[in-house]
Amino acid sequence: MLNHIDPHADGVWNAVSTTVTAAGIDEKQPRTDDEWTDVKQHARALIEAASLLADTGRPVAATGVKSENPGIEENPEDIQKLIAANPKMFTLYAQQLRVRAEEALAAIEAKNPTALVEIGGRIDETCEQCHKVFWYPNQFKSK
Ligand code: HEC
Repeated sequence: MLNHIDPHADGVWNAVSTTVTAAGIDEKQPRTDDEWTDVKQHARALIEAASLLADTGRPVAATGVKSENPGIEENPEDIQKLIAANPKMFTLYAQQLRVRAEEALAAIEAKNPTALVEIGGRIDETCEQCHKVFWYPNQFKSK
């Protein structure tokens, strides 16, 4: 997950930003063809990673790795069980991620930074929704 999804999601999310500094407002967005190509590669890699997730239903960190936040984040074995108990939902989230990454690619191909930011927000929602169900479900259970 960390290697296949995270850096490419960051590549898409960080492509456009607005920072207010003492010097004024800094609007960061891809401008040259090279910069657009770079973001495009991240979007493509994200689509690929999402497809893999949807096809295999296999996200999960190397077995034997223990949760860094036990009690909040599940251990890999327990995550596998959660996925095995609800594979359809897992696949749906993975497919949703793929669809949204494809939308991001379309926005990049249209060189539309506004659309890219908006779709980036929806990509983030998908990450979060899947994590809530399969990665740290206990976060929302009362103690
Ligand atoms: C279909 C479900 C699903 C989607 C969609 C999803 N994740 Fe995950 N993610 C998981 C699961 C399950 C874990 C915990 C198991 C693991 O660590 O692989 C996880 C763990 C992680 C981790 C912890 C590091 C790691 O490798 O264990 C990061 C970082 C992460 N996801 C980032 C993201 C980002 C960013 C997105 C969206 C662009 C995303 N994920 C979308 C299921 C998903």
